[in-house]
Amino acid sequence: MKQAQADYRSQNIGRRIEFSAPGAVISLVNDLECNGFAVAVMGDFADGPEISLKRLSASLGLGDPVIPALYRRENAEQYANLYHEVQRNPADQHPGFSTTDGQALHVDGLADEIGKLRTSILYCVRAAHAGGDTVIFNAVAAFEALRESDAEAASALLDPRALERRATIPGVEASAMGPAFAMEPDGTVVTRFTDNDTCTWNQSVGRAGSLGRGLEFLRQAAGDPRYRTAVRLARGEALIFRNDRVSHGRTSYQDSPRNRRLLVRAVYSRPPLPES
Ligand SMILES: [Fe+2]
Repeated sequence: MKQAQADYRSQNIGRRIEFSAPGAVISLVNDLECNGFAVAVMGDFADGPEISLKRLSASLGLGDPVIPALYRRENAEQYANLYHEVQRNPADQHPGFSTTDGQALHVDGLADEIGKLRTSILYCVRAAHAGGDTVIFNAVAAFEALRESDAEAASALLDPRALERRATIPGVEASAMGPAFAMEPDGTVVTRFTDNDTCTWNQSVGRAGSLGRGLEFLRQAAGDPRYRTAVRLARGEALIFRNDRVSHGRTSYQDSPRNRRLLVRAVYSRPPLPES
């Protein structure tokens, strides 16, 4: 898979693609295939985020957004929106959406099976006063490198009992057990690599010590600029990423009265322009 060869230090990583320019969709699909993410400049502020997102998702063949399984659980109804507003909200207790804290690496869809939610889009209505970058980790490229250097550790991460994730939203009961990586029938790799307080790693899978080595390798890689980059979205920009191929996080941010960060998030079960 092309994304395994990506080097996030390359100059055009995170390039902005004007959505209205000729060939924009081809460029977006190409960036998504090669790097696992792309940034589109939508620019049509007057239409509002939902219309922009619909235009973008239609052009990429994503279909309609889906509600992640976690937000279909009891007490999570307030997050069950197809177009969910992510912003600081002291009245809300969601550990990711409602705070200005940094967010560790994760994939969207804690309670969904690996590879189920293939694409996420974050549309920026307003940037923060400072900070608030989205961090992208090329998890599948790091995994391919691990397979070459330590096949035993890679195979522990493929174990269906390798990683349990448990919801940390107060009052919401949800958990899911599964592999951290999985091979698709076509030979590509999908991931749910997450490294935050929702995770319990099962050190008993595989040969003794192998899962720990795999995890250590991934943590090192997650700090390596070859595999890690950050995108700070400006107003009207949309970050599209392969939620089944990269992990993402956020740096902390500060709002000001005129610059209150507001992103709209939508998640899709389809990949961009799937081969027919
Ligand atoms: Fe997320």
